[in-house]
Amino acid sequence: MRLLLAALGLLAIFCSVSCHKGACLERMDHKKSPSEEPDMPECQLYSNASCCYRNFTEQLQSPVSKVDNMFWDKCGNISHRCEKFMKRIECFYQCSPYASRWKNPNYPVGLLHAPLCLSFCDDWFEACKDDLTCAKNWLADFEWNYDGNHCKNSCIPYSKMYANGTDLCQSMWGHSFTVASSECRCLRLDERDKAVMKYLKPDDSSSSSSSSSSSSSSQSSEEKSCKRVMAALQKEKEEEAKEQEKESELLENE
Ligand SMILES: *[C@@H]1O[C@H](CO)[C@@H](O)[C@H](O)[C@H]1NC(C)=O
Ligand SMILES: *[C@@H]1O[C@H](CO)[C@@H](O)[C@H](O)[C@H]1NC(C)=O
Ligand SMILES: *[C@@H]1O[C@H](CO)[C@@H](O)[C@H](O)[C@H]1NC(C)=O
Ligand SMILES: *[C@@H]1O[C@H](CO)[C@@H](O)[C@H](O)[C@H]1NC(C)=O
Repeated sequence: MRLLLAALGLLAIFCSVSCHKGACLERMDHKKSPSEEPDMPECQLYSNASCCYRNFTEQLQSPVSKVDNMFWDKCGNISHRCEKFMKRIECFYQCSPYASRWKNPNYPVGLLHAPLCLSFCDDWFEACKDDLTCAKNWLADFEWNYDGNHCKNSCIPYSKMYANGTDLCQSMWGHSFTVASSECRCLRLDERDKAVMKYLKPDDSSSSSSSSSSSSSSQSSEEKSCKRVMAALQKEKEEEAKEQEKESELLENE
């Protein structure tokens, strides 16, 4: 009986991943379903299965000024390190085949509570803290007219606008993102996400506010297997790096 339940559980987890494959957010400029998009100048992380077309990513080439119809540099040029994080967010939203897992039910062109790792949010805050912004919520706090978005308030450093990484992640793009309570079952918008996807459940995103989930024991077992798999991946990566080092040493000695 236990085995059967475990098998069903696995099936459910499997389905929650694969049954969501093949969908994109319902933006006019997105594909219906993700497909290969070689030679993207940016967002290469998603080039095997992309919801955006190559031409979208052209505007994300440094220095980024305007993305779609929104100027990012209303308070002056963006620092290189801050821009890198902004791009990771934008690439995820526009190109990731996973993004539609967190499609906003009331606004299907947008995200709702995609669960970011706290470490990602803190790194983002650190990278942007000296950059300037005039809007806390970039979806709501600009004034819009025919020539794009305009500041309603004065430009201040991110470190004044946002209290910390959590505040930044949960404010800048409205309700699009939330900080996950788990440091394993969360997105970092890098290559790790692919492996972590199967541990993310649709209700993970709301877990940061409380641990109200009905099955906390199954949650913690998922947390454990997530940690186990991520540790194994990390080890694999380190060993690969070591191998490469050895190989290049050998080459040098030849
Ligand atoms: C794309 O797929 C190839 C072949 O499966 C793989 O080697 C490569 O790492 C993938 N690239 C990314 C960015 O996932
Ligand atoms: C981008 O490319 C896609 C597919 O090739 C095309 O349908 C779309 O119109 C292009 N968008 C722009 C802004 O050129
Ligand atoms: C902002 O960047 C542009 C393009 O790289 C550059 O021409 C301009 O001088 C920069 N402005 C400031 C104030 O640094
Ligand atoms: C981040 O700032 C928010 C809002 O001020 C605060 O409630 C929260 O405790 C802070 N979190 C951390 C980890 O400092």
